[in-house]
Amino acid sequence: MDGTPSTDTIFWQRARRHMLRFGGEFVPFVAARAQGSFVWDAAGRRVLDFTSGQMSAILGHSHPEIVAVVREQIATLDHLFSSMLSAPVVDLAEHLARLVPSLPKTMLLSTGGEANEAAIKIAKLVTGGWEVVSFAQSWHGMTGGAAAATFKAGRRGYGPQAAGSFAIPAPHSYRPRFGGIDWKVELDDAFELVDRQSTGNLAAFIAEPVLSSGGILELPKGYLAALKTKCQERGMLLILDEAQTGLGRTGTMFAFEHDGVTPDLLVLSKTLGAGLPLAAVMTSVAIEQKAYERGFLFYTTHVNDPLPAAVGVKVIEIVERDHLAARATSLGKHLRAGLEGLMAKHECVGDIRGRGLLLGMEFVADRKTKQPDSQISDRVTDRALELGLSANIVRAGSSGGVMRIAPALTATEAEIDLGLEILDRAIGDQR
Ligand SMILES: Cc1ncc(COP(=O)(O)O)c(C=O)c1O
Repeated sequence: MDGTPSTDTIFWQRARRHMLRFGGEFVPFVAARAQGSFVWDAAGRRVLDFTSGQMSAILGHSHPEIVAVVREQIATLDHLFSSMLSAPVVDLAEHLARLVPSLPKTMLLSTGGEANEAAIKIAKLVTGGWEVVSFAQSWHGMTGGAAAATFKAGRRGYGPQAAGSFAIPAPHSYRPRFGGIDWKVELDDAFELVDRQSTGNLAAFIAEPVLSSGGILELPKGYLAALKTKCQERGMLLILDEAQTGLGRTGTMFAFEHDGVTPDLLVLSKTLGAGLPLAAVMTSVAIEQKAYERGFLFYTTHVNDPLPAAVGVKVIEIVERDHLAARATSLGKHLRAGLEGLMAKHECVGDIRGRGLLLGMEFVADRKTKQPDSQISDRVTDRALELGLSANIVRAGSSGGVMRIAPALTATEAEIDLGLEILDRAIGDQR
């Protein structure tokens, strides 16, 4: 050793000096390159990405066809005056309308929070109400209206949220709030409370069909239909946020298809750009017309930008052509069977849940009492990273201890098996 700090040490010194911390600690891995299901550091250390980046890269990293589209589009038509339309934008809107014919009107934005913001604003304008209800385990984004509808984390310390922000508990099959009471009774009870608190200005309910950050909570069959009825009875619009569930991940193109319930507003983000910043708000002709007549304004720098839109068109083409929704079902079955094998082997795994390739593994201190054990889950995550697997633990709030597993839909069975093998070792090393 000559006493010269290593490149890694220097990197972290610079990072500590300059990087603003926004959500806990940074992961102790410096990515230099990513391809398919793997991320590498500069020294060539390979890590299997079991979270598709930030739950977005459903086609794996740097999919060659996406790379080609970005290269071509940025050289042809990159960014425009916001009111100026272009072919890739209308192409994407048309494709989305083909997929959800009852919601043929689309605006394209960049992030999930931003798109939820727009959807909530449309709901307020069109209903004339301003009260918004969501789940107590929800995550819809970090900006004003989206943050006001996010109850999973981040509410403390910033002063008042939007007035009229209400939450109801999401149904939880592994940890029901009250033993022996079914979700219909809970839903009735929750809405009775909403009605008591409401000033008569309910505008919308915003929901994830599978709550991801909330701990991979799948809504029971029939729940979404019942929720839509509750909305209709009160003149509220139903907004479905399919940031993570859209584009095939749960086995259908959109998770709402599983329940046969179409929302009034559908919000797509994360998976639509497969890792690039692209989001969409979709709605019906009648809602769009009313919003327009009432002067709907959501004028942003990157609204309907051609470059990300071209990426979205290609993402849809690949998901359909390569039957990736069906692949999410079959690969999801394989992954789930493997995780259930781990549960059979390791006492600290209390539950496996989710749909398609959006799965959760919950760690517990005691299987009988289901007491959560976020320490073991944190240690498993850290050990897995050392062994070459990036999986994500929901660390904050009441769902601590749930590992989210959402590999690319293009992952191979061998890659899934490698991830399972590493998890097995990482869990086994905790004994
Ligand atoms: C369901 C859901 N909606 C919205 C968002 C916010 O998206 P973004 O971070 O792109 O603003 C997230 C982010 O994790 C999410 O999981």
